[in-house]
Amino acid sequence: MRVLGIESSCDETGVAVYDTQLGGGAGLRAQAVYSQIALHAEYGGVVPELASRDHVRKLLPLIRQTLDEAGLAMADIDGVAYTAGPGLVGALLVGAGVARALAWALEVPAIGVHHMEGHLLAPLIEDDAPKPPFVALLVSGGHTQLVAVEAIGRYRLLGETLDDAAGEAFDKTAKLMGLPYPGGPQLAKLAETGVPGRFKFSRPMTDRPGLDFSFSGLKTQVLLAWRDCDQSAQTMADIARGFEDAVVDTLAIKCARALDAAGTDTLIVAGGVGANKRLREKLIAMCATRGGRACFPRPALCTDNGAMIAFAGALRLAAGQHDDAVIRAVPRWDMATLLAV
Ligand code: KG4
Ligand code: ZN
Repeated sequence: MRVLGIESSCDETGVAVYDTQLGGGAGLRAQAVYSQIALHAEYGGVVPELASRDHVRKLLPLIRQTLDEAGLAMADIDGVAYTAGPGLVGALLVGAGVARALAWALEVPAIGVHHMEGHLLAPLIEDDAPKPPFVALLVSGGHTQLVAVEAIGRYRLLGETLDDAAGEAFDKTAKLMGLPYPGGPQLAKLAETGVPGRFKFSRPMTDRPGLDFSFSGLKTQVLLAWRDCDQSAQTMADIARGFEDAVVDTLAIKCARALDAAGTDTLIVAGGVGANKRLREKLIAMCATRGGRACFPRPALCTDNGAMIAFAGALRLAAGQHDDAVIRAVPRWDMATLLAV
């Protein structure tokens, strides 16, 4: 089954084709992402109306480009998957409308995919993917969640952030030191040249039991450190390193606890912050000491993309699930309400 995947929940237009017959990494026939970062940069964050309009402009050309790269014609598509939520409602509606119309015209089934399930399943696109049960750490710009995955589609929330998401904390911290939006990846790059230990920030909520997170206080700690220092390039890098170490340590401590709680030693990690090099190294080492393993998608599949939507939709379509002929856009959507595959 060849499934066209469409992602348009925020500021990236993503399109991909996943072929279930080929499976694994080879199943990903082609994918393309158009990022709107430049469009939103001058506003310091995503402007929803501009995002929707840009998805309208980019989606059809991106679909044509992806099919060309896969060497496929429109008629070769057996199903369409699109992000139905959570996300910006106008942006979601663009992808949902195009997906539904294509499915209607091609007389193939369509399915609305949960964006976070897409992220969660992205590590399974890679070869040698683990099988459930495992724990998933979802770390994006909008979410920080620990989820016990009993089976594909059976998700139990173990803990989540009470305020800022991990990616949001990276972005806001970068912004207060004057880095342009979205600062997360740039802050991580700066941290590479930072001196570890010169700035020591707290590991929030690790001194008590529980699997929830709170990252907003870290941002304030950085603000105070930044205000009171010489603001040189090296000091900025040192602060970035201190901040990154605090986030990475906090995530690793909670992941180890979540593995204990779920009774497994397999961790999968997804979402934009999953591209962070130091986080990847730390979690791989933590799982190895337990005799288990940490699995990540390649960095390009950590941030928003169409491949994860094509893959998640393909699993559900292949299991016989599909939507009625409605355009679904669900800005808020609890992953625990999904059907098992
Ligand atoms: O999953 P994603 O592409 O979009 C959402 O669904 O939110 O995640 C984007 C987030 C942004 O906050 C970005 O700053 C962060 O992921 N991010 C990173 C890195 N790459 C992306 N944060 C830390 N280190 C990175 N290398
Ligand atoms: Zn995302």
